[in-house]
Amino acid sequence: MRFGHFDDARREYVITTPQTPLPWINYLGSEDFFSLVSNTAGGYSFYRDARLRRLTRYRYNSSPLDMDGHHIYIKDGGTVWNPGWQPTKTPLDRYSCRHGLGYTILEGEKDGICAAQELFVPKGDACELDRLTLTNCSDRPRELDVFSYVEFCLWDAVDDSTNFQRNFSTGEVEVEPCAIYHKTEYRERRDHYAVFWSNTPVTSFDTARDAFCGVYGGPADPQAVRAGHCSGSIAHGWAPVGALHIHVTLAPGEEKKILFGLGYIENPQEEKFTDPGVINKTRAHAMMARYADDAQVDAARAALADHWESLLSGYQLQSGEEKLDRMVNLWHQYQCMVTFNMSRSASYYESGTGRGMGFRDSCQDLLGFVHIVPARARERILDIAATQFEDGSAYHQYQPLTKKGNRDVGTGFNDDPLWLIAATAAYLRETGDWPILEEQVPFENDERKAQPLMEHLRRSFRFTCTHLGPHGLPLIGRADWNDCLNLNCFSEHPGESFQITGPSEGPVAESVFIAGMFVKYGREYAELCDRLQLADEAAAARRSIDAVEQAALTAGWDGAWFRRAYDAFGNPVGSRECTEGQIFIEPQGMCVMAGIGRETGQAAQALRSVEERLDTPYGVVLHQPAYTSYQLNLGEISSYPPGYKENAGIFCHNNPWISCAETMLGHGDRAFEVYRKTCPAYIEDISEIHRTEPYVYSQMVAGRDAPTFGEAKNSWLTGTAAWTFVNVSQYILGIQPTLDGLRIDPCIPHTLTGYTVTRRYRGAVYHIAVDNTAAVQHGVQSITVDGKALAGNVLPLAAAGTTVQVQVTMG
Ligand code: BGC
Ligand code: NOJ
Repeated sequence: MRFGHFDDARREYVITTPQTPLPWINYLGSEDFFSLVSNTAGGYSFYRDARLRRLTRYRYNSSPLDMDGHHIYIKDGGTVWNPGWQPTKTPLDRYSCRHGLGYTILEGEKDGICAAQELFVPKGDACELDRLTLTNCSDRPRELDVFSYVEFCLWDAVDDSTNFQRNFSTGEVEVEPCAIYHKTEYRERRDHYAVFWSNTPVTSFDTARDAFCGVYGGPADPQAVRAGHCSGSIAHGWAPVGALHIHVTLAPGEEKKILFGLGYIENPQEEKFTDPGVINKTRAHAMMARYADDAQVDAARAALADHWESLLSGYQLQSGEEKLDRMVNLWHQYQCMVTFNMSRSASYYESGTGRGMGFRDSCQDLLGFVHIVPARARERILDIAATQFEDGSAYHQYQPLTKKGNRDVGTGFNDDPLWLIAATAAYLRETGDWPILEEQVPFENDERKAQPLMEHLRRSFRFTCTHLGPHGLPLIGRADWNDCLNLNCFSEHPGESFQITGPSEGPVAESVFIAGMFVKYGREYAELCDRLQLADEAAAARRSIDAVEQAALTAGWDGAWFRRAYDAFGNPVGSRECTEGQIFIEPQGMCVMAGIGRETGQAAQALRSVEERLDTPYGVVLHQPAYTSYQLNLGEISSYPPGYKENAGIFCHNNPWISCAETMLGHGDRAFEVYRKTCPAYIEDISEIHRTEPYVYSQMVAGRDAPTFGEAKNSWLTGTAAWTFVNVSQYILGIQPTLDGLRIDPCIPHTLTGYTVTRRYRGAVYHIAVDNTAAVQHGVQSITVDGKALAGNVLPLAAAGTTVQVQVTMG
């Protein structure tokens, strides 16, 4: 069952009922100012950091769900309704929600009045614009009262939701005829405030929540809206809000547009603070002037559309396979941008207060993003590397506003260091920007401890070399990619294992997954050493890699698949010797991607075992059999009921690893099958089972052991976005950036007869036409570049600004 449809021409997903199984959201903004907006206008806004600079409140896990947001009320006589249906839930005659590239349009119609609420964050500005278009579709004149309403958050979202004894007394506002300023904290010589304004003369306003909503009213039934006017309240403490009321008259057929804006202003030191009671509004006035009339708002919308057009033009596919084209050209890349911006901080499942930017997460997000804006990827790599410790280990997370490592979560995830190599190598393959390796980057954000980025990578590599266990496999530490596999953790309280502050490393537990990573990314590191003429270092690195590869093939091998780990007692995890958790997906994917066991046949055997034991109609589950009871020696993984999350859920993130691994063996049909099973557009028809947005990936789908098999959770912020795009663009469609240029090596379903990709790369544009009339899955017979035959499959680098025609014949 569907709740909407894709509109490919407009690059939108169109939701046609407000009652989707869960709120289906979109992200506005891709620079500093961000808003989350659901298909019923729920959501919130923040500046850079969802925890430390939260502009508006949002109550998670509330009942009813999704009541706080960007709300516009229309009072038409005795009827009050919202174009996005919530929060009044007045039945609409017509409803649609269009989620597009950085904008959302909610359209409602009631009794002959059409209202379209168009929300977006203009490029280069720190504000959200909400433009309301009202049309009188009836044949009589109409009088309406429009109210726009936001509830301010007192900046630090954690403090805001906990420290009420203080916060009920700090709130302050200022009011101008068409603007409400939220200036709590300004008194403390802070330099920021928010402004909520309209470009249309305001009839009445409120700034105190109780005055607008009524103490027992709430956004579903605000007393001011019911009364048809606001009371001009000024908030003194309690809950400051922005509510603007505009009385509108409409002749039959007449249309009127009203703009509401929510801006964030930060005054530079020299401009701020003349009088503690009065804010400096110069910048706010300038912001409002930028959107004073409709043509300016149109221009901002057009600039945003151009921006996205140019971002996405770096990789465009025409394959004739509608769903594939739609995902590759638009939604995969769009989700990559969002995960790059948000890491795992703010979604409808991540509160914006818990996790900032993940070290591992952001490095992986970059793999799918780097071709979109390489310069931002560069900056991100340097930020991440600056949180690393001198021994190569890393803070697991950092706060985007301060860029400082998060001490509460700390360190000890032994895969983290290697992801920095993965990200940097991917950046170099995309850009050829070798000077980045010479950039001075501090350790632990301490400028006194600055070293070239290459030294950071060296320490990342060495961290694994110096943390090997009894089988010659890398020590796992607190956990590796699988946060919940806590083999050195003996906490009696499962949920707490992630926060444990005790010894972060047990003595001996080892990870075959990290072994795979070390071989894969270690080789990439050695290649960098080659290029920097560090021949001895490269040779030594390869000796260490070969030794770990051997360990993976022996101690890491279980007979028909790669083992997952050894626990702190030296017992195998992910082995037929275990009663539960006999086989895990992660080492099969990562080891085969690393090329381990390709010659020996072990790689092919491992993937056959995945297909036999882990595959389901909705994707590949994390392990089998699921753990039925909590086990101290395994940690959080066994704290989940069978089939959920890391306990044998379908973790979408590592499904692409299996797909990539299949391409390494030339299995294009199977690689595509794995891709397709979790791919949003391909499962749109089962939205009532899947429940989350059908245009983006979710972190997890309940596995076959779960009573709700097929139900997804935690949409949007997942490494799946990046890995899927890497998989489909590089491994399946086979356009692979290397240090020397684009390598062409498709591995596709044999039924795909051909396709073309337009790829922007190092300033040139490559039109690559692939002919597969031979109906093979893998193998390039010939390549011509601008009509001339090419030896090998790496395209020579073209001069920036030029366009190259490439013809590839498979066979
Ligand atoms: C969750 C994991 C998550 C980890 C890190 C765990 O509780 O189950 O999925 O990766 O926390 O926050
Ligand atoms: C979510 C985390 O953000 C990610 O880093 C981790 O790898 C997965 N969960 C699996 O545990």
